[in-house]
Amino acid sequence: MAIERTLSILKPDATRRNITGKIITCFEDAGLRVVAQRRVHLTPDQAGAFYAVHKERPFYNDLVSFMSSGPVVVQVLEGENAVQKHRDVMGATNPKDATPGTVRALFALSIDENSVHGSDSLENAKNEIAFFFKDTDIVG
Ligand code: CMP
Repeated sequence: MAIERTLSILKPDATRRNITGKIITCFEDAGLRVVAQRRVHLTPDQAGAFYAVHKERPFYNDLVSFMSSGPVVVQVLEGENAVQKHRDVMGATNPKDATPGTVRALFALSIDENSVHGSDSLENAKNEIAFFFKDTDIVG
C-alpha cells in the first residue's frame, strides 16, 4: 500500500482541554507518524479560507468562529494509506455516530466541537498540507 501524507488539525476544544497528546497517541498507535507540527491561533480570515469549500453551508460562520476561538495544532501525518487511516481513527464527524474507540467517540463534545479535522482525499490532503506547511517544514 502507498505511503501517503494527510493534514490533521487538533481543534480548539482539544487544546482547551489539554488532550492533544492523548489524541496524537491514537494516531501514533495506528501507525501514523507526525512529520510536521505547529501550534497556531488562526485568524477568522485564515479559518474562513481553510474551510472555503463549506462557504455556502449553514454551519460555515459557526465553524469559522469556533476554529478561530483558540489555538489549534496543525500537523502532517505520514503512513500507509494515511488519508483513510486517519479518517478511520477519527471516526464519524458527529460523535453521536462515531464508532466506539475512535477519537471523536472518545473525546468530541459535539458535531461542532469535534476535536479533530482530517483531509478527505489525497488531492485535498496535498492542498491542505500546502495551506499550512512548506516542503522544508516536513521532516519524514
Ligand atoms: P471537519 O472535518 O473539520 O469539517 C468541517 C466541519 O464542520 C466538521 O468537521 C464539523 O465540525 C463542522 N460541522 C458542523 N455542522 C456540520 C454538518 N451538518 N455537517 C458536516 N460538518 C459540520
